[in-house]
Amino acid sequence: MKELVGTEKVVWSCNEWDPLEEVIVGVVEGAIVPVWNPALQATTPKHAKSFFEKYGGKPFPKVMIEEASKELDGLVKVLESAGVKVRRPEITNIDFSKTYETPWWKSQGLYAAMPRDIIMVIGDIMVEAPMAWRSRYFEIFAYRNLMKEYFNKGARWLAAPKPSMADSFYNQDYHPDRAMIDGVKQFVVSEAEIAFDAADFVRFGTDILVQKSNVTNALGIEWVRRHIGPEYTIHEVNFGDEHPMHIDTTIVPLGPGKLLINPSWVDKKDIPKMFDSWDIIEAPAPVKAYDSALYFSSDWLTMNFLSIDDKKIIVEENERPLMDLLESHGFQTIPIPFRHFYPFGGSMHCATTDIRRRGILQSYF
Ligand code: NVA
Repeated sequence: MKELVGTEKVVWSCNEWDPLEEVIVGVVEGAIVPVWNPALQATTPKHAKSFFEKYGGKPFPKVMIEEASKELDGLVKVLESAGVKVRRPEITNIDFSKTYETPWWKSQGLYAAMPRDIIMVIGDIMVEAPMAWRSRYFEIFAYRNLMKEYFNKGARWLAAPKPSMADSFYNQDYHPDRAMIDGVKQFVVSEAEIAFDAADFVRFGTDILVQKSNVTNALGIEWVRRHIGPEYTIHEVNFGDEHPMHIDTTIVPLGPGKLLINPSWVDKKDIPKMFDSWDIIEAPAPVKAYDSALYFSSDWLTMNFLSIDDKKIIVEENERPLMDLLESHGFQTIPIPFRHFYPFGGSMHCATTDIRRRGILQSYF
């Protein structure tokens, strides 16, 4: 296999822990609260419904945007002081509040806060995810100038076919209260068309793990498998989150041979055999010291941190038990405030996407 190092390529990232050199950090300005809909209901905590009923179709409250934006700027500062080049999406030409219309439906946009959901870098390929929420149909345009720049400098660019997101694309019978039927997980997206979000994939060099979820279907997984090249092996995993959407609070690689798992969703017997020689580390329960409710996710955003390399990890400053655990395994933790970003649906891992990590493509198994 040809070995490449990050500095030779403008876009290059093969795993979650090699030294980070360039990253996209999302923005929350212009974020719009989605109107309640079946795809949203599939993964949203029950308590959040009243928030969507009150604000659906309107901007997120100004104070939420301001506080989260400050925290994103704080993340940018920490990254820059660690020598990481930070890029931000452009939202000047996108009004997320504007209603757009396709032949099948109308929707407003959402935000450009979570680059991890929509762009996945695999080696030197930028994979543009097709997404599965109507509110995210045009979100990629916030990143297109950046992607064009990377493309002009030599990166490869793969865009998956977008599903129509017509009613027929969603399982009309799906209800989150019936998410398991006869031991089989049900999803709001059907197999009628290709769908995936990038955040359902997690990269370990030549091996990539993926879960089916309420935004990622088997066709989407097969599309990625066939397009990224024979050097990669995609392994489908299935853990205990009954309403899955994005794998980055379920399993998080810390470095070669070290995997952090969410003990409330991951039964060790469901971890693929290839991890037998790895240290499997159980994450501590989330601290829940937050003054704001979470509208799109579980409390396990605890685990949604960002590794600068295989020794340094940026974590939310309230997560002391997590920091203690990581430190006991030899990691240096960099605590920053991020709890006001949480209600937008993620922490630092979601709020970023790797553009370049220095390292080689290799197998860790
Ligand atoms: N759906 C998962 C991942 C969010 C980033 C959760 O709620 O924990």
